[in-house]
Amino acid sequence: MEKIIFNEFVEQVLTSSDIVVVVSEYVSLKKKGTKYWGCCPFHNEKTPSFSVSPDKGLFYCFGCQVGGNVASFISKYENISWFEAIKLLAQKANIPLPEKEKTSEEIAREKEMHRLWNVQDLAKDFFYACLTKTNYGIEAKNYLFGRGIGQNIIDEFKLGFAPNAWDKLSRAFKKRGISDLLLVKSGLAAERKNEGVYDRFRNRVIFPIIDEKNHVVGFGGRVLDDSQPKYLNSPETVIFNKRNILFGLHLAREHIKKERCAIVVEGYMDAVTAHSNGIKNVVASLGTAFTKQQAKRLLRYAEKILFAYDSDAAGQNATVRALSIVRNLGAEVSVISIPDGKDPDEFIRKHGAEAFRKLADHALPLLDYQVDKALRDYDYTTLDGKVAVVADVVPVLAETDNAVEVNAYIAKISQTLGIDESAVRSEIQKYLQKNKQDNNVKKGQAIEMNTIVQRVDSAALGAERHIIRLLWEDNNIIPYVEAQLQIDEFKNKDHREIMQFLSDVHKKGQSTSDIGISLNLSDSANNELSRCLLNEFEDSDNVQLVDDCIKSIHLAHLKDLYEKHRLRADQLERMGDEGFLQELAESQRIKYEINKMYD
Ligand code: UTP
Ligand code: MN
Repeated sequence: MEKIIFNEFVEQVLTSSDIVVVVSEYVSLKKKGTKYWGCCPFHNEKTPSFSVSPDKGLFYCFGCQVGGNVASFISKYENISWFEAIKLLAQKANIPLPEKEKTSEEIAREKEMHRLWNVQDLAKDFFYACLTKTNYGIEAKNYLFGRGIGQNIIDEFKLGFAPNAWDKLSRAFKKRGISDLLLVKSGLAAERKNEGVYDRFRNRVIFPIIDEKNHVVGFGGRVLDDSQPKYLNSPETVIFNKRNILFGLHLAREHIKKERCAIVVEGYMDAVTAHSNGIKNVVASLGTAFTKQQAKRLLRYAEKILFAYDSDAAGQNATVRALSIVRNLGAEVSVISIPDGKDPDEFIRKHGAEAFRKLADHALPLLDYQVDKALRDYDYTTLDGKVAVVADVVPVLAETDNAVEVNAYIAKISQTLGIDESAVRSEIQKYLQKNKQDNNVKKGQAIEMNTIVQRVDSAALGAERHIIRLLWEDNNIIPYVEAQLQIDEFKNKDHREIMQFLSDVHKKGQSTSDIGISLNLSDSANNELSRCLLNEFEDSDNVQLVDDCIKSIHLAHLKDLYEKHRLRADQLERMGDEGFLQELAESQRIKYEINKMYD
């Protein structure tokens, strides 16, 4: 699709969609002043803090800080991509989609996907019928019953059985006109050395892997005894990407949405048993490393992710790896420790759903878990042990944004290990410095280096929001502010992104009144922008206001700088490093500047 045509289409959809009308279909709104208010659909609340501004075309929830325009509302509410939301709005407004020419490769790929979905779906029915309707399935059914899986769960998950024969499925499918080639491509069969194909899954209980659109994309098959391999899985195909899929998500999704929390387990049986016992917000990562894509998928429905991996060493290591993946995604993450029995499946069958729910209630937050684990894993009475604990926790602390939390942990660790807080701090600094040099860390994170010494200063944040609002509403003052304030003086990372964006918009001669312009901002900056624009500020003389805001931001920045240099001076002095004098002098210079601003 030509970019211009596409932009025109989006603009037309956005201008024809009245945000109040659209939102009212989902939320009951009441008008108060220039805004409409209702109970936020994105978090649980009884008193309305969700606001819609028809003039600005934006919504914002003062409770959960989600905001955006009409398309972001639909995309968040319906859990669909931004573009899907535009298409939905276009439908509501009777605007036809611009025609898109598909390339021949795209057409071929789509056809291939449909063929694979179709054959996997037939296979699911075949295995299900073998388990539930034929004599082949008797032993497998008893096996499942023996593990506490009843008929209702067999039906819900569409569990099946692959008969103990070389070509039951291949032959049945051939009769239906399905080619050997397609069977091999789908991973249902493999080629024989000389001629023909044989079934991949034989004498195994079958767990269909189903994606969020209810397409069957692959299978896992478990032996009925102790033979190896315990599980056999479908190979990756254009429709089955293990890094992207979570077993059980199609069934768990609505429950995750309702509870705002997803529980991730390792195995098929862990997920199935949990569901069978009424714990339905559970998905399985299928024994492979948890990926960022999987985390993002869950975060479309959940605010909180709980990991309930096996309690053996492999499971605990997998937990640590999973945590390092989700650490920076802004999710609330905790870990459920299974005290008795190897995995959630065994625990739930032994102790019941209530006991498991209790474990979930007492899940350890990410930081606690990692600090506790490090303290458990090493003998910290020895010097080597202390070094090892610090090495384990430093990356976690360095990558945590919440300064208050980090400080508390630094205190706890240094007390437990009997070492100086400054030692931990300087390791954190070293880690951040090293990552900066390695260029492994994104630019934003290097700025976050100060978070450890930074207090959140709400007055300055307010000033930042206010000035963004003023600049957004009157682009003419952008150069005035730019001349007096550096972008890095803004404390908040989203504010820095918005300021950079404003500066670029102005340079390009665009205007913030162009609809859809904010679409180039990241999600979190977009939320924050809505907050800035919908915040209630007292209106008075604008010029005076701009100057006041500049002064507050400037002052807060200087105070942070002052503290940073003071702290550094402190550390160096304690380590007996002469460099502390220089830091002290710098902090004095900043103090002088601060005092001058008060004159
Ligand atoms: P586990 O060995 O913990 O199996 O592997 P489990 O889920 O507890 O299985 P049961 O209770 O003995 O039936 C966890 C997951 O790792 C993958 C599977 O997805 C399994 O559910 N796995 C394990 C394999 O893919 N292949 C294997 O041979 C073993
Ligand atoms: Mn198990």
